[in-house]
Amino acid sequence: MLEQLQAIEEEALAALEAASDEEALKAWSSRYIGKKGAVTQVLRGMGGLPAEERPRMGKAANEAKVRLEAAYEQRAEQVEAEALARDLAAGAVDISLPGRTRKRGGLHPSTRTLRRFYEIWGDMGFQVYRSRDVELDDINFTALNIPPHHPARDMQDTFYTTDEGVILRTHTSPGQIHAMRELGADGTQPIRVILPGMCYRYEQITARSEVQFHQVEGLVVGRNIRMSDLKGTITEFAKRMFNPSAQVRFRASYFPFTEPSMEIDVECFLCAGKGCNVCKYTGWLEIAGCGMVNPVVLRNGGYDPSEWSGFAFGMGPERITMLKHGITDIRYFWGNDLRFLEQF
Ligand code: PHE
Repeated sequence: MLEQLQAIEEEALAALEAASDEEALKAWSSRYIGKKGAVTQVLRGMGGLPAEERPRMGKAANEAKVRLEAAYEQRAEQVEAEALARDLAAGAVDISLPGRTRKRGGLHPSTRTLRRFYEIWGDMGFQVYRSRDVELDDINFTALNIPPHHPARDMQDTFYTTDEGVILRTHTSPGQIHAMRELGADGTQPIRVILPGMCYRYEQITARSEVQFHQVEGLVVGRNIRMSDLKGTITEFAKRMFNPSAQVRFRASYFPFTEPSMEIDVECFLCAGKGCNVCKYTGWLEIAGCGMVNPVVLRNGGYDPSEWSGFAFGMGPERITMLKHGITDIRYFWGNDLRFLEQF
C-alpha cells in the first residue's frame, strides 16, 4: 500500500507540472486531493489493513496529502503569474489605469449632531429614552398644561390625523409625561433622561422652518432639584458642545409646562460675541428653551410636587447644526441633495 501511495504522489506531481490553466488545476485538485481524490481513496482503503499497520499508513497518507496541497498552492500561484504576464504582454491589462474609487457614504449632518448630543449627555449621566412620533392630543398638549383652546396651542401648528385626538407630536415634551409615568414608578423614582425624536408642525416651509425637525428634550426629576442645577447642567453642555470657554445666558420666557421658563443663549461661537450676520450682530445665539417642570406637569406624571421637582429643556439639533456649519437654509436637511450631503 505504501508503494501505491508513492506511485500516486509521483504521478500527481508530474500531472501538476502539466496543468497550465485554472481549469486544469481544478481538475487536478479533485482528482488527487479532493474528497473523492486518489489520496482519500487510499485512506479509505485502510480498513482492510491489520490494526498495527493502520497508524503508519495513515500518517504516510496524510503527509503525502500535505505535500501535494503545498505543491498545488505553489503551482496555482505560478499559473496565475504566467497568465498575468501573458495578458500584460498582449496589452489586455492597462496598469496605468487609475484604480476604481470606492463610493464612501457619510452620516447625515443631523445624525452627526444627534450622536454628539448622546455622547455629551450620556457622559453627564443621562439615559436616552425614546418616545413616540404619533401622539395623543391629551399628552402632547393637555397633560403639559396646555388645555384645549389655550392660546399656547397656536405656538405649534399641528398635523391632525383622521383619528380623533391622535396627532403627530409637535415637540418632544410629551415624552416627559411618558418618561415620568413609565420610569417614575408612581412618582417614587428620580429620572435623568434625554428624549430625542422627530417633531412635526403644519407650517409653511421656508428657509427657516420645516414641517419636520428633530428635538432633543431633557428631563431631570428628583428631590431638591433647583434652578442652579438647570443652569449648571446647561452651561456644562454648552462648554462641551461648543467650546470650553463658551458663555451662556438665560433669558426669561414662557412655556406652559415649565415655571419659571427661560430661553438659553450661547455666546456666538462664530464671532466670539463680537457680532456677525449669523448672530444678527447681537453676539448671542439662541439654542434651547428650558425651565423648572411645572407642578401641574409633575402631578400629571405621577409625582407629588410638594416633594419632587425637576427641570426640562428642549433643543433643536438642526438649528445647532446650521449655526455650527453656517447653513443658511433648513430645507437642505431633507432635500436629499447630494451636493449638500456629501460635504459631511
Ligand atoms: N417644547 C418646547 C418647544 O418646542 C421647548 C421646551 C422644552 C421648553 C422643555 C421648555 C422645556 O419649543
